[in-house]
Amino acid sequence: MEVDTHIISANSTSIRNMEKAFSEVGVDLDAVVFSGYASSLAVLSETEKELGVVLVDIGAGTTDLSIYIDGSVAYSSVIPIGARHITNDLAIGLRISLESAEKIKLFLSSPAKKQFKLEEEEVEEKTERTSSDEIDLSGLALAEELRKVSKKTLIDGIIRPRLMNYLR
Ligand SMILES: Nc1ncnc2c1ncn2[C@@H]1O[C@H](COP(=O)(O)OP(=O)(O)O)[C@@H](O)[C@H]1O
Ligand SMILES: [Mg+2]
Repeated sequence: MEVDTHIISANSTSIRNMEKAFSEVGVDLDAVVFSGYASSLAVLSETEKELGVVLVDIGAGTTDLSIYIDGSVAYSSVIPIGARHITNDLAIGLRISLESAEKIKLFLSSPAKKQFKLEEEEVEEKTERTSSDEIDLSGLALAEELRKVSKKTLIDGIIRPRLMNYLR
């Protein structure tokens, strides 16, 4: 007999601490589930899992990754970088509060604002959009004086180095 298994291990002290924290607030735990697996139960269909799919759940402190092949998890990982790191970096880099940094981050990723074009489009447009590197923050009602910020500062100076740093 033969079996293919995917084993996920976790630090037992961390699990015990988590169980303790829950029991202190009166919540009984039935079981502990890998968060990447829990996300996949929430968002993936049986067909997607059967055909093969990669699930990436970007959280606040970590990014969970699960790869399904033939209906089962074949690979899983937790990358210790989440959206909160971007907020922290923006706050430090721009010398603003975490609250303002969070507002800028959400503004940047808002599809309605179309702040970011694909790089190819950008190259084409560079000739006519000379001052388009500036992003107008005046609508965000930030506590700080910051009204304009350069896209290059945000992306190349702050966000990209954080994300690339993990790959090195
Ligand atoms: N549209 C968005 N663009 C960028 N980041 C976002 C967006 N919506 C939520 N976030 C970020 O996602 C993070 C929260 O993710 P969440 O799934 O709630 O955390 P966790 O799963 O780790 O508890 C926050 O840092 C928040 O700023
Ligand atoms: Mg989440």
